[in-house]
Amino acid sequence: MNSNASSLAEKAAIDAGLDFSRLPVHVAIIMDGNGRWAKKRRLNRIKGHEKGAETVRMVLRTFRKIGIPNLTLFAFSTENWQRPKTEVAALMRLLKKFLLSEEQEMIENNIRLNAIGQLERFPEDVQKSIQKVMGSTEQNDGLLLSIALSYGGRADIQKMVYDIAAKVKTGKIDPAEITPELISNHLYTRSVPDPDLLIRTSGEMRISNFYLWQIAYTELYMTKTLWPDFSKEECIGILKEYQQRNRRYGNIEE
Ligand code: IPE
Ligand code: IPE
Ligand code: MG
Repeated sequence: MNSNASSLAEKAAIDAGLDFSRLPVHVAIIMDGNGRWAKKRRLNRIKGHEKGAETVRMVLRTFRKIGIPNLTLFAFSTENWQRPKTEVAALMRLLKKFLLSEEQEMIENNIRLNAIGQLERFPEDVQKSIQKVMGSTEQNDGLLLSIALSYGGRADIQKMVYDIAAKVKTGKIDPAEITPELISNHLYTRSVPDPDLLIRTSGEMRISNFYLWQIAYTELYMTKTLWPDFSKEECIGILKEYQQRNRRYGNIEE
């Protein structure tokens, strides 16, 4: 491990024997299980989301200290709009509160915010807080934090097809130029490499319309832990397990 990595890294990660030369470049997380966490305690689901926001803070800090350059958090799906109005409103309030309360720490710690998804569907005050923090962290080149908001893998693909078709129609793109790279460059994630690791909490074994195109060769890790209970130790353990995986990309082992 180089001294730079050791100065940045959390002691826990060093203790756990994480190999700092083989860290994932991009980790994406489906943060699930807030509602069940609250239900288990006979609390309102909103309490689960509040507790979940604390886990977000912890995970963001842990990844920054370890030195992982890209993190995506799936915070709100295109389908989540169907939830009761009160729950949607509480999630909006929490999102705004999270962004504004973390802004200073993001600026100080070289974190850049990249909100992806149908941002235009959010209430104006939420959109403003997203734009504010994206603006104030724009120059940062440390961790790139992508937050997927009103994001759907299918909506992402639909928009990409629409944009490419429009360019073909006006003659800007020739159909023969449509390569996987061109497709990637027309998705919400155009500035982000494909995830190396996708973590889902709460035990569900599904993707729930999160990244689709982007996870072609992503390593998957599903844990039964509910998002509010997700700990730094488990997080580091998952990174360790990722380092044991043999990524063959369809080829054979050397
Ligand atoms: C994840 O927790 C947060 C969002 C999807 C916004 P859930 O609210 O889905 O929690 P469960 O799945 O009902 O336990
Ligand atoms: C996925 O969780 C969406 C987010 C974590 C933002 P859901 O709770 O919405 O997914 P399903 O309904 O269990 O598939
Ligand atoms: Mg859920």
